[in-house]
Amino acid sequence: MFERRHLLGLEGLSAEEITFLLDTAESFKEVSEREIKKVPTLRGRTVVNLFYENSTRTRTSFEIAAKRLSADTINLSASSSSAQKGETLTDTARNLAAMRPDAIIVRHPSSGAPHLLARHVDCPIINGGDGAHEHPTQALLDLLTIRSHKGQIEGLTVAIVGDLLHSRVARSNLFGLRTMGARVRFVGPTTLVPSHFADLGAELVSDLHEGLRDADVIMMLRIQRERMNGRYFSSLDEYSRMYCLSGEAVAKARKDVIILHPGPMNRGVEISSTVADGPYSVIMDQVTNGVAVRMAALYVLVGRRRGIESSGEDTANEPVPLRRVAAAE
Ligand code: CP
Repeated sequence: MFERRHLLGLEGLSAEEITFLLDTAESFKEVSEREIKKVPTLRGRTVVNLFYENSTRTRTSFEIAAKRLSADTINLSASSSSAQKGETLTDTARNLAAMRPDAIIVRHPSSGAPHLLARHVDCPIINGGDGAHEHPTQALLDLLTIRSHKGQIEGLTVAIVGDLLHSRVARSNLFGLRTMGARVRFVGPTTLVPSHFADLGAELVSDLHEGLRDADVIMMLRIQRERMNGRYFSSLDEYSRMYCLSGEAVAKARKDVIILHPGPMNRGVEISSTVADGPYSVIMDQVTNGVAVRMAALYVLVGRRRGIESSGEDTANEPVPLRRVAAAE
C-alpha cells in the first residue's frame, strides 16, 4: 500500500509502505531482462526530469525507467532552463505544471526544494535528491539491493562510512533501514558525524575498524567537497589513511559482508579499487536496481493513480497483483 501523492523522503514512511515499493520494484526487474524492454503501463504519460545539480545515475535511470514504462520524458537542467535568467524554482515548476506533466522528478541543491514544489503543483513530485536532506529512491534501491543479497533487512548491522554530515543518501538510508529493523552505525570523523544523528537512531563510531566490526553491510560515502564550507579534516591524504576502505578493513566485517556505494566514487579516497571491484562489492547491482526502483516509484505515483482516477474509485487499498504488473503487459 502506498497512498501518498508524492515521494519526498523516507522519513515517516511505514515498513508496509517501504515493503510495498520494494516488492513493486522486484516485480519490474524482469522487464529490464527482456529483449524488448518496454511495457505500456505509462503510455501517453509525460515525466519531467528537472535537475538543478549534476547527476549520472539518478537522472539517467529515471529516464530509462520512464521509457521502459512507455512514458514520454523531458529533461531540463539548471543551465538549459530559465533559472539562468532569474526565474524562481516555483515559477519554473508552475510553468511546467501548466503543460500538464504527470510527474516531476526534481534534484536541487537546497534541502526542501521538492517539498516546496509539492505545495505549488498538482502532479506527483519525486525527490531526486535535495541538498543534504533526502534521496529516497537511492535509499530504496539500496534497500532492494540489501534485501536481494541478504534475504531480509531486519536484524542486519549496516555501517555507513564517510561524510555523513552532507549525505542525503545516509539520512534516507537511516530512516529506511531503522524502519525496516536494521541496526545502523554511522562511522567517520566526529566533524562529519554530528551527534544529533544519535537521536535519529544511529550508533556513532569514529574508528573505522571498530565501526566495521561484524557488519553485514558496508556503505561507503564520498567526501562532498562541493558542500563543505570549512575544514573537516586536515587533508584528504590524512582522511583516506584513516577511512579509505581497504581489504584489511573489510576483514573486520562479517565474512559474507556486502559493500555498497551510491556513487560517484572517488577511488583511493574513500574506497580502494581492489574493494570497489572485488567479490564483496554489489555496487553495479545497486545501479541496475535503480531502474526497477524508479519504475516502481513512477508506477505507484502515476500509473496506479490513473487507475484510481479513471475508475472513479479509490482502489489504493487493494493489493496490486505485483507479479502480474510487469508480466501481463
Ligand atoms: N547516487 C547518485 O545520486 O548518483 P548521481 O549523482 O550520479 O545521480
